[in-house]
Amino acid sequence: MWVVFLSVIISILLPSFSAIDCKMSASVTTDMEVKLKALECHFTWGIEKDDIKDRDSLPEKLLDRIMKFSTLNHATYFNLLAFLSHLEENNVSALEYLHKAESALKNRQDDTELLVTYANFAWVHYHSGNMNDVDAYIGKLENINKGVTTAIQGNLPAIHGEKAWSFLRLGGLFYLGAKESFQKALKGEPENASFNVGYAMVLYRLEGLAMDGTERLAHTEGATQLRKALSLEPDNTEIMVLLAVQLQNQSRHESMKLIKEALRLSPDVPHVTYYLAEYCRHADINETLEVLEEAVELSVNSPFMHYQIGLCHKQQFHQMSEQKREGSWIKARQIKEKRELCIHHFSRAVELKPSNVQFRLNLAEAYGDNYQLEEAMKIFTNLLKDESLSDSDKQQCHSCFGRFLYYKKKDVYGAVTQFKKAYQIPIESWHRNKARKILMQIAEWCQTKKKTVGDASEILEFLAIEDKKGRNAEEPRRVEVHSSDTDDLTDALGKGMKLI
Ligand SMILES: *[C@@H]1O[C@H](CO)[C@@H](O)[C@H](O)[C@H]1NC(C)=O
Ligand SMILES: *[C@@H]1O[C@H](CO)[C@@H](O)[C@H](O)[C@H]1NC(C)=O
Ligand SMILES: *[C@@H]1O[C@H](CO)[C@@H](O)[C@H](O)[C@H]1NC(C)=O
Ligand SMILES: *[C@@H]1O[C@H](CO)[C@@H](O)[C@H](O)[C@H]1NC(C)=O
Repeated sequence: MWVVFLSVIISILLPSFSAIDCKMSASVTTDMEVKLKALECHFTWGIEKDDIKDRDSLPEKLLDRIMKFSTLNHATYFNLLAFLSHLEENNVSALEYLHKAESALKNRQDDTELLVTYANFAWVHYHSGNMNDVDAYIGKLENINKGVTTAIQGNLPAIHGEKAWSFLRLGGLFYLGAKESFQKALKGEPENASFNVGYAMVLYRLEGLAMDGTERLAHTEGATQLRKALSLEPDNTEIMVLLAVQLQNQSRHESMKLIKEALRLSPDVPHVTYYLAEYCRHADINETLEVLEEAVELSVNSPFMHYQIGLCHKQQFHQMSEQKREGSWIKARQIKEKRELCIHHFSRAVELKPSNVQFRLNLAEAYGDNYQLEEAMKIFTNLLKDESLSDSDKQQCHSCFGRFLYYKKKDVYGAVTQFKKAYQIPIESWHRNKARKILMQIAEWCQTKKKTVGDASEILEFLAIEDKKGRNAEEPRRVEVHSSDTDDLTDALGKGMKLI
């Protein structure tokens, strides 16, 4: 009776449970299974495989974090890696990661820190059919729990914290869950640095998701929490840059100071430089250049720093060109100097990290702007030969190459071919829209020049067919999101910002 009652409760609490484990629901629920379902771990937290953002690339990012940070959250990430391995039906690797999680906890203060790991062990063994091992781990868990008052069993801050950090890494659909779990963890341990840091991060992201075009403000709950986190972990450079972005429009001086300090401490850590890029996008260029040039002296071999400096010069180059078009008097030499600075820094970035697609595209464009068309051609040709590029990179390459052919080489036919290729890749993005816009321009231009009317209708027909495909597609188009808030470093790394 109890057993049935309990499993009903559990299945109400965990509606997704049957999806996780068909094997279990198919058979009569055993005593062991009831115990398993009552455990707190990744297998019982209702994590749906399809809700996980960028599941394919997540393991690499977690391993990257493990490598970069000496001890922080290692066990948590190994546990998550084990669960991801389980989702890939790789029980061998799942067990390996759990052993790593266990050894990451060897200096633990308290055995309760092992609860989630042991629960995951029990579950992986259960799915592998090693029932003796399941019993052994359930036994270990019961032993640990003996030392804990019944009232707080399953409600330990460490468990909420573990769940919260895991959710934070699983992407936007889990952020509300992460927030809730951090709040529960903090209720038990209000001054715990790790919980405060994680809570600050999740508030920052949730506020970012809710922003919808408005700007970040200096006095939100997230801002306050970021300050608290930084007071507990004064060297946490990731928190520093988040706070810098948060304050950027309202407390410029403080924001700048934080950026300088973060760059001094972590000049080349992707989690820092990614938000730095975010910061630079809206900051005053002269000020940013000043900070970056100071920072690059400390880390002359940072490809990312050269890339960022190149982007600042590129923005200034565009501003100058614009001013000149509008009739301002700008020395030709000044503009030429900017173009050369772009080439210098983008080349340096490519030299230091030749595999980065963004670096190479920017270099190609800079060569194009400087009328070094052969050099630009070489880069585009090599990029387009590369089969290993992601669809989104390919789309961007075709679109950039199209613009180069159109504006610099005046090769309209070549450009049309490239824009079509970009448009055919069904990912909504700035580059796809740009390709469409220029294709429409070309079609209009063809129509006004009566002779080539055939080309115009051919282009319009192509667009109509592609748009219809989009409407009829079973899966919605993927949308390219350029926001640090939704994706954390997911996108940064996805876009080739693999720095070290
Ligand atoms: C992995 O699972 C399969 C069954 O799914 C099982 O036969 C195998 O022994 C398991 N391996 C380990 C190391 O538990
Ligand atoms: C915060 O909580 C975690 C997880 O329980 C624990 O490992 C860590 O030692 C705590 N930190 C502090 C400063 O109490
Ligand atoms: C700062 O203001 C600019 C312009 O209004 C806006 O685009 C940007 O998103 C704001 N930055 C932040 C971090 O809110
Ligand atoms: C940036 O500095 C240049 C000179 O180095 C100056 O001409 C320009 O006006 C400055 N821009 C701003 C926005 O201060």
